[in-house]
Amino acid sequence: MTKQMKRTIIITGGAGFIGSHVVRLFVNKYPDYRIINLDKLTYAGNLANLKDIEDKPNYKFVRMDICDFDGVLKLMQDEHVDGIIHLAAESHVDRSIKDPFTFAQTNVMGTLSLLQAAKIAWDGNWEGKRFYHISTDEVYGALEMTDPEGVEPPFTTKASSGKHHLAYGTTFFTEDLKYQPHSPYSAAKASSDHFVRAFHDTYGMPTVVTNCSNNYGPYQFPEKLIPLFINNIRHRKPLPVYGKGENVRDWLYVEDHARAIDLIFHEGKVGDTYNIGGFNEWKNIDIIKVLISTVDRLLGRPEGADMDLITYVTDRAGHDLRYAIDSSKLQRELGWEPSLQFEEGIEKTVRWYLDNQEWMDNVTSGDYQKYYDDMYKGR
Ligand code: NAD
Ligand code: DAU
Repeated sequence: MTKQMKRTIIITGGAGFIGSHVVRLFVNKYPDYRIINLDKLTYAGNLANLKDIEDKPNYKFVRMDICDFDGVLKLMQDEHVDGIIHLAAESHVDRSIKDPFTFAQTNVMGTLSLLQAAKIAWDGNWEGKRFYHISTDEVYGALEMTDPEGVEPPFTTKASSGKHHLAYGTTFFTEDLKYQPHSPYSAAKASSDHFVRAFHDTYGMPTVVTNCSNNYGPYQFPEKLIPLFINNIRHRKPLPVYGKGENVRDWLYVEDHARAIDLIFHEGKVGDTYNIGGFNEWKNIDIIKVLISTVDRLLGRPEGADMDLITYVTDRAGHDLRYAIDSSKLQRELGWEPSLQFEEGIEKTVRWYLDNQEWMDNVTSGDYQKYYDDMYKGR
């Protein structure tokens, strides 16, 4: 696919955390593309995330549920859509444990509704078309923490790219691993991935799937570890650490994910899967300590003064022990690498949340949900 041609792309979930970064990148980088942000605006959707680009001529917002098959089909036909970048989902594991039906509905049926609408709208004319599905590393299940030759983790290991990095185990998620989801969230994402591949294999739809590790950065809803804890530290509220805080996640700065999405949308191989990750494993408790020191330092408090906010609570049910992505295929085939060191990314992130207290207050008070109604009043 060439980048020069004019395109009309639907980005689903563009008012959410990662989606807003993807929309911003595409709207600014490709003035000849028309970018339609299709979002239902659930509790996780916030149009204030896109204030800086909302008046750009190549951007349009459409409030719609991805499960609304007739609505999606009509939009695709009316707007002559030739690309879909699909991020809309229910995304929080803890919510999926309480309410699995909503996750099956949005993540499975919603994805199927988009696929079927694209199949009918494109009617077998696949030239220049692309359906890009954004998924998660959680579909692969959980990895062990191993201690080779008695070395205390994290130890230095070598990825299949040949690069050395710190890791808590010797196994990694690669694209050929079988799916073993544990939470209702990851089970629903896994199912949606299978549907996307089935549409490629059965109908020849030009699809691509990526599975990414934990993202962090600006505009993340403060139910997720990093923004929740930054806000709690600021307000000296307890930090609920699940279990012993020993679980390991592989963290990637959200703009690096958006850059990978841009690259894969344009250059990824049809029918293929790419893992995206930061080679950046951290135990939760170590990240939490970094967050406390950083917030304290930036607020002029004695560094580490807030360590006593750490509060160990009952573990998350079915809590996956370790995630670690091997993204060497993406590096090897398309030349992508994370651009930010974690220390730099986390400093930027903490600063952003401290500087954008109004955004945080709107989100925690629920006021952001009135933004859409106010914005469209009288139109
Ligand atoms: P998010 O919860 O911040 O945003 C989700 C967005 O989807 C919101 O704007 C919401 O309004 C919208 N949405 C939800 N249900 C919808 C529906 N039925 N119809 C239309 N819009 C709907 O999520 P996120 O963290 O930005 O994740 C985006 C995608 O990336 C998800 O598919 C997620 O599985 C995947 N992912 C996330 C991470 C991460 O660390 N956050 C990592 C890997 C993959
Ligand atoms: O791996 C990719 C996934 O990362 C995405 O697919 C999900 O959409 C995204 O939410 C994220 O899932 P996690 O469950 O890993 O993220 P969360 O921020 O909820 O939790 C990170 C770790 O911190 C996890 O081990 C649970 C722990 N945790 C989380 C919260 C919210 C706590 O100890 N206390 C908390 O209050």
